[in-house]
Amino acid sequence: MRLAWPVQITGSGAYMPERVVTNDELARTVDTSNEWIVQRTGIRERRWAAPGQGTLALATNASQGALANAGLTPKDIDLIVCATISPEHMLPSTAALLQAALGCRWIPAYDLSAACSGFVYGMMAASQYIVTGVAETVLLIGAETLSTITDPLDRATCILFGDGAGAAVLRRSTDTGRGIIAARWGADGERGKLIYIPAGGSRHPATRQTVDERLHFMRMQGREVYKFAVTQMQQIIEQTCADAGVSVGDLKLLIPHQSNLRIIESACARAGVPLERVWINIDRYGNTSSASVAVALHEARTAGRWQAGDLVMLVAFGAGLTWASVLMRM
Ligand code: UT7
Repeated sequence: MRLAWPVQITGSGAYMPERVVTNDELARTVDTSNEWIVQRTGIRERRWAAPGQGTLALATNASQGALANAGLTPKDIDLIVCATISPEHMLPSTAALLQAALGCRWIPAYDLSAACSGFVYGMMAASQYIVTGVAETVLLIGAETLSTITDPLDRATCILFGDGAGAAVLRRSTDTGRGIIAARWGADGERGKLIYIPAGGSRHPATRQTVDERLHFMRMQGREVYKFAVTQMQQIIEQTCADAGVSVGDLKLLIPHQSNLRIIESACARAGVPLERVWINIDRYGNTSSASVAVALHEARTAGRWQAGDLVMLVAFGAGLTWASVLMRM
């Protein structure tokens, strides 16, 4: 879709838990090795939240950073949208608890569930309120404690995922030439079970048996997701640029979901994006789902990777299956 939404990122923040978990540490529990993990995924280490440190704590830290960075106080926020698949509780939303933790007014606050596409879906959702004038300032967060929903005994998944949070403050741009100029988003529920958690929802509520059978942990068909991810990411990069009437070569920076270095490399090679123009941090954090693009965005912004007027694209895919891209003129 070609768009002209004058939405700007005026602040960003991130928080990664202190505990670093190396590949060698995981290799003490499951049959894997540092060499295998680095070669197949590009991941060298990830962060795990401390016991008792939930998604709310990570989201609160990242949000405080984003607000300070934007020069705003919690009272300035009009809406909170928190993308997560590992919420603080099943009920209420992490966003509502975050509203209280930050000391905001009684503003609306809700969670958004789109797995690894969550933050980019959130950019689409949050921007609506700004464009329509419903909200002036939106706090958008991607926060996860995936270590709590990953089976530590499943080597196909436990090596991939990590914990963390990123946040962005979105406001109306005074310069109408800047903002979101194109976007794509979609989902294919037919492939919903390529990545899923069998129990804990209404279909299979928690019982002693679901716990014994380890059904509260994520299950993933990695090969299938891999193939989907490479093709989808390449296409969505190309299509979003075409929508905006720009060429892929015009991108100053691509901020992709950090799922697997090989996925990023293959998709970018096919789409013609040189890796120097791609923000990569998967080696340090692994896959943090909704937090992934949010954290990468904050790092790239802090590193000064673009100037006003540059083209920056966020792109993600994940369980659902879901995918999303947002192309911004910064
Ligand atoms: O955010 C979206 C969520 N998910 C993703 O993006 C994940 C997408 N998929 C992937 O990143 C990759 O498919 C994985 C990293 C999960 C797996 O890499 P792969 O190259 O696709 O390996 P594979 O699943 O085809 O397995 C190859 C071999 C198998 O052994 P056999 O059958 O050839 O004997 C696996 O059992 O590697 C084995 N294997 C491992 N070996 C050592 C699987 N996991 C591991 C491991 N250590 N951790």
